[in-house]
Amino acid sequence: MARPSRPAITYEAPPNIALVKYWGVRDAALALPYNSSLSVTLERLRSRTTVRFDPALNADQVELNGAPASGGPKEGVVRFLDRVRDLAGISESADVRSANNFPTASGLASSASGFAALAGAATQAAGLFLSDRELSRLARFGSGSACRSVFGGFVEWRAGRRPDGRDCYARSVYGPDHWPELVDVVALVRDAPTKGVRSAEAMQATVRTSEYFFQRQQELPARIRGIRAAIGARRADRLFPLIMEECDSFRTACETTHPALDYLTSISRAILAEVQGLNRQAGRFVAAYTHDAGAHVHVFTLARDRAMVRRRLAGVDGVERILTVRPGPGGHTVGPARAGGRVRGRAGRTRGAAARVRSPS
Ligand code: DP6
Repeated sequence: MARPSRPAITYEAPPNIALVKYWGVRDAALALPYNSSLSVTLERLRSRTTVRFDPALNADQVELNGAPASGGPKEGVVRFLDRVRDLAGISESADVRSANNFPTASGLASSASGFAALAGAATQAAGLFLSDRELSRLARFGSGSACRSVFGGFVEWRAGRRPDGRDCYARSVYGPDHWPELVDVVALVRDAPTKGVRSAEAMQATVRTSEYFFQRQQELPARIRGIRAAIGARRADRLFPLIMEECDSFRTACETTHPALDYLTSISRAILAEVQGLNRQAGRFVAAYTHDAGAHVHVFTLARDRAMVRRRLAGVDGVERILTVRPGPGGHTVGPARAGGRVRGRAGRTRGAAARVRSPS
């Protein structure tokens, strides 16, 4: 008689936006970064992934956003499942279904939420029950930034120094409710190009060829300390210039890579200029821009300035849609009865189950 399949497990995880960017792999086999990074976990947005290991399957089946996955995205999932199977000492193939409640084509960091959700669902489905720290350590093998999406609030991924990576891990430094006034106004730009090369690969070109990369490594410890302290003290006037300084440093590292990496479009650059103009006119740091390896721009501001910032961003030609998100909880297992939902991004409003995402259990 065939062995019964193991229970299906569903786990959901949010994306995160880095205030200090992970950019450079120190050890690919152990997935260790050169530098520590620090991010904000975003509320309401999430990847929800269900995994079931089934002895009746001949091969892994992977469905992403309702369609069968193939090529690179599928291979990434299968490689990750192999790692989980090794850890759990099982050999069954898996059925994986994953969906984002934010538009995947929007280029918001879906690899972070996706691999954090896959790590949570696949390990439990394989009979492994890991601590959040262990789960986060595993998630980074799928996508480095995924290790931060396991945790809520303000999350630091410590690079560590040890060659064996034992001192490399992520943890929440301030919880999701630490600074409720801080908001992230995400400006989604028209015609954002989709990434041709994975960040994990692109960043190694920077390590190899950018003459600025090692200078950036020297600058980072002080910047991270400053950013952590400003968040701790809830001081936007200190935090906002540092967020932009770090974003500019990341962009310089990309631009000094040979061949140069340029993730922005003219619309993204117009948004950066708009934020600079806004701060200049106000004579204070009203807002701070940051972006990842993509064309959309996250603009941090405080709740009292949110409406004005949104108006300014909406006035930039080519800004297609604006979402407002706050720091939120990290990844968590979902009960079997929960239904799916989507964030419909118009003017930052949410509907459906997206608004009911639970706190971590
Ligand atoms: C610029 O961890 O997303 O967003 O392995 O290709 O998924 P992949 O890389 P990933 O790289 C993140 C780069 C970044 C900065 C950051 O999130 O820290």
